[in-house]
Amino acid sequence: MSPTQAEVDAARDDPKLANVLYHDWESATYDEKWSISFDERCTTFAVDRFRAVVPPGHVVPGTETYDHALELGCGTGFFLLNLMQGGIARRGTVTDLSPGMVEVATRNAANLGLDVEGRVADAETIPVPDASVDLVVGHAVLHHIPDLDQAFREILRVLKPGGRFVFAGEPTRLGDLYARKLGQATWWATTRFAPAAWLRPQAELDESSRAAALESVVDQHVFDPDRLEQLAHAAGAVDVRVVTEELAAAVFGWPVRTFEAAVPPEKLGMGWAMFAYRTWQRLSWLDARVLSRVVPRSLFYNALVTGVRAPDPVPL
Ligand SMILES: C[S@@+](CC[C@H](N)C(=O)[O-])C[C@H]1O[C@@H](n2cnc3c(N)ncnc32)[C@H](O)[C@@H]1O
Repeated sequence: MSPTQAEVDAARDDPKLANVLYHDWESATYDEKWSISFDERCTTFAVDRFRAVVPPGHVVPGTETYDHALELGCGTGFFLLNLMQGGIARRGTVTDLSPGMVEVATRNAANLGLDVEGRVADAETIPVPDASVDLVVGHAVLHHIPDLDQAFREILRVLKPGGRFVFAGEPTRLGDLYARKLGQATWWATTRFAPAAWLRPQAELDESSRAAALESVVDQHVFDPDRLEQLAHAAGAVDVRVVTEELAAAVFGWPVRTFEAAVPPEKLGMGWAMFAYRTWQRLSWLDARVLSRVVPRSLFYNALVTGVRAPDPVPL
């Protein structure tokens, strides 16, 4: 059920309450909204994100799998469940501040036959013993967490010595700026100039506007790549690495996603979906193979970060 105006007002100064309201509400339709699936397409996408930031050679396909992985801000389980299907981890714990999301993620895991338990949990106080997990992952979650220093300390605490964390899908400062501007311009143009028969019903558009009000509260941070590296180092991580990706793909993708939020899917059809996906794929290729070599990393839309809890010293 969508949040009422009174709930939206109450959450204006409380990012955690806003997160629970917003993501509980989104949980039922989240997979459809973001085209999330647990098949080869999304498994390849998740594993590629992991490999984009984990130094080459650290995880050799088929020869190294983490035993126990923990996901923070799991949503419906997109990242960890697909990483498990891609052979990165054997068993998992999915956690999220939103009970609705944890329910959907554990249901998705059960449907896939994966060994996963779900917990409602705040990334700033992870309810997991010290040094108990091999891998901590997250996708599009760090930018929602108010106290990131505390969250990174928690991540390092729960990791076993030598354990790794990998976070992907975090907006960069400049990427967020152009994505927002493009999204706002697309929404304005679509809702003004598209024929009424092409727009979603007014009640749905109003609901989207209420969601946008919560979105401005849940989105707490944007990242400079250097600052993200410093955050991880400050918590004690070693082997820290930050990479960025998606520039042309983001400039194309954000207007497309905004347009799709205003127009019902049946008006657009399969042809549109294939055009949008294939174009995004081609532009991602351009970003990875060409633009990443010549454009500064701060201009790309997504930041990914990895690091390791220092291994115990070998006794003499
Ligand atoms: C943008 S969604 C991403 C969901 C999922 N990781 C994905 O990529 O599809 C962010 C998720 O982080 C969760 N979240 C926000 N703040 C959190 C916090 N402090 N602790 C744990 N989860 C949080 C939200 O409830 C939401 O499910």
